[in-house]
Amino acid sequence: CCSATPAALRRRPEYIPNRISDSNYIRIFDTTLRDGEQSPGASMTPKQKLEIARQLARLGVDIMEAGFPAASKADLEAVKSIAMEVGNAVDEDGYVPVICGLSRCNKADIDAAWEAVKYAKRPRIHTFIATSEIHMKHKLNKNREEVIEIARSMVSYARSLGCQDVEFSPEDAGRSDREFLYQILGEVIKAGATTLNIPDTVGYTVPHEFGHLIADIKANTPGIENVIISTHCQNDLGLSTANTVAGACAGARQLEVTINGIGERAGNASLEEVVMTLKCRGQSLGGLYTGIRTEHIVKASKMVAEYSGLLVQPHKAIVGANAFKHESGIHQHGMLKHKGTYEIMSPEDIGLQRVDESGLVLGKLRSVCDNLAVSICSSCSGRHALQKRLEQLGYQFEGKELDDIFWRFKSVAEKKKHVLDEDLEALVVDELFQP
Ligand code: KIV
Repeated sequence: CCSATPAALRRRPEYIPNRISDSNYIRIFDTTLRDGEQSPGASMTPKQKLEIARQLARLGVDIMEAGFPAASKADLEAVKSIAMEVGNAVDEDGYVPVICGLSRCNKADIDAAWEAVKYAKRPRIHTFIATSEIHMKHKLNKNREEVIEIARSMVSYARSLGCQDVEFSPEDAGRSDREFLYQILGEVIKAGATTLNIPDTVGYTVPHEFGHLIADIKANTPGIENVIISTHCQNDLGLSTANTVAGACAGARQLEVTINGIGERAGNASLEEVVMTLKCRGQSLGGLYTGIRTEHIVKASKMVAEYSGLLVQPHKAIVGANAFKHESGIHQHGMLKHKGTYEIMSPEDIGLQRVDESGLVLGKLRSVCDNLAVSICSSCSGRHALQKRLEQLGYQFEGKELDDIFWRFKSVAEKKKHVLDEDLEALVVDELFQP
């Protein structure tokens, strides 16, 4: 269980762009605001992006990819404002997150990325070019030598602007020729890349394969000992978290993830799954650990769901509404005896408040319980649960006022399958402003 991870292992080592100062420390690179925003229909306003960036800083992500500045003036401005504010704010551990902007391998993109991130204390440019045969032939219309030259010269160009932290990604690495990867990665290291990110762009690999890919790159790329190896796993086969963890076990020390796993097509490895896997099982994985303050996960998940409009499925690992509910009688019985029977982490670990002692779902208040995403037992009076939820939403009601809201809540619950926070807030407004 999570709490078994020794506290001493959770200290974040000093940040140096290309140096692993503690060999077991895993850097979390969050790309919710870039790859996540590329999810169909998920674009966010600059204000929403800034708010999410603040929450990512509370979570303690090491690096946040704030956007793709060449994509639009609005995104450039959004990344810039994140760089100026969040990229200069020291957190409770004395850490300032790296702010990263994505760019294709061309000067205009790199200039835009630098223009946006240079205000941060720790700016990073992330540049990429495709290396699989299918992409080089059909998308780029370039041969291997041309692609190497573009990559080499653009990494060098990014460094020449004064950016000391440059990440390079060979797009579609999961389907690229190994020898070619060793060659291009060796060249960009010589040109000044500090992080080499290995994307499984179409989510094609399976965990043992992706692990071997990382191990082979580590063993065969000239100069690799001077840089950080990173993973970026898409979820087309539902294997992104497993592939990411396999990559970490094989030597990657930066993992690219998004809140709720949002991203292109089927999304990316999800931050909460990867981080909680390392928190719960890191000891069995050779002592790997992250600097994430996991108690901020639920708030981040809700914020991203709300702003992106991408709802979280109820059975989603870690942050789904059902993730800490126990439905069957056998499970409920076990939970009453010992929580460890059916929970490998506790809701509090991710910032969910457990409402009662038993943690069981039963009774009439089911829909409010759903909304709480934690469970309420049959002995809990509906009024009490409602009062607790209202408190969590910032409202204090007692006595007659609470009774009024409770009866109106019950009538809403009869008509609707799920009573949402918005419904409760509407009831509160009615109560406060009724004549
Ligand atoms: O999926 C991908 O290959 C990417 C790269 C730009 C890292 O998003």
